[in-house]
Amino acid sequence: MSTSWSIFVIVLVIINVGGCGWLIWWTMHMRTDEQAEGDLSTGHTWDGDLKENNNPLPKWWLNTFYLTIIFTIAYLILYPGFGNFSGTLGWSQYGQYENEMAASAEKLDDVYAAFRDQNLMELSSNEAALSIGRNVFLNVCAACHGSDGRGAKGFPDLTDNDWLYGGNPETVYATIANGRTGIMAPMGAVVGDDGADAIIAFLRSDNPDSAEAAAGKQKFMTSGCIGCHGLNAEGNQALGGPNLRDDIWLHGDSTADMKGIIMGGKTNEMPAHIDLLGEDRVRLVAAYVLSMSR
Ligand code: HEC
Ligand code: HEC
Repeated sequence: MSTSWSIFVIVLVIINVGGCGWLIWWTMHMRTDEQAEGDLSTGHTWDGDLKENNNPLPKWWLNTFYLTIIFTIAYLILYPGFGNFSGTLGWSQYGQYENEMAASAEKLDDVYAAFRDQNLMELSSNEAALSIGRNVFLNVCAACHGSDGRGAKGFPDLTDNDWLYGGNPETVYATIANGRTGIMAPMGAVVGDDGADAIIAFLRSDNPDSAEAAAGKQKFMTSGCIGCHGLNAEGNQALGGPNLRDDIWLHGDSTADMKGIIMGGKTNEMPAHIDLLGEDRVRLVAAYVLSMSR
């Protein structure tokens, strides 16, 4: 708060508190005067004889008003509220927030410490670890991968043991911690419309060496697909190029879906989670992912 705002607030507070005090004092004072004259009536009369009297407020009632004023002054001395004066107790909402966060982090740290000397494979069959991992998964990952981890179009199924980037513990940890970006280049200009159809026929055929698949295979081998999808179209985990010879299709299994990806490409992003979750929770959720795929 700038100094002028601070002064503005201080003046407002003084006017308010002082005003309340004066109002109470004045009300009491006036009533005593009137009582002395012996006339309590306000002059309002209803139904002929129903009069409204102006009785003074009970003493105890007025005293509670004085007490609230005393409380206000004490509060403004101890806690922030009087302009920029921060209060003699040094309390602040940020301080309180930080203290509470630190206390809960410390409590959680004890919980996590128990898991630090176990590797991810051990954790993936540790019930206590999995129950925390499952919670993290439901809170953070389920929006994209589904609460059962089975994914959706564009979001990989994490239970099927078919991996874009690999399913060993270190790789799964790295995927979750650092994120991944899968880049399928637009290949329309390279393969052309007919080329794409032929490649799809090759990818779908049960026998990649059959005559009907030959043209597509040829096109696949010579159009730069193998760099990312491997020589046999069975995937390249270093680049996240999916296996195209299985029946699992990340972006849909219709010919239109496949053709759309081949012609137009696709960039797909798994966000990094290390900053959001910290190492302990990334390990626990990685263990949970490993447990789901077995
Ligand atoms: C905003 C959506 C989103 C969120 C949130 C998200 N993911 Fe992902 N995740 C993706 C996408 C998209 C991919 C595929 C990336 C690609 O195609 O290259 C992916 C890929 C993965 C993979 C790699 C799968 C493989 O086959 O190699 C794992 C493991 C994974 N996510 C786990 C998680 C976990 C655990 C969380 C929660 C901590 C999480 N994801 C949160 C979208 C998300
Ligand atoms: C630069 C590397 C790269 C090249 C070159 C490339 N791809 Fe891909 N392709 C990928 C990646 C990565 C994905 C997965 C995208 C994602 O993460 O969602 C993919 C996805 C696909 C898919 C969808 C797979 C699914 O499961 O839904 C098809 C089909 C495909 N590519 C075919 C091809 C064909 C055919 C070629 C050659 C004409 C080709 N790709 C060239 C990297 C590449």
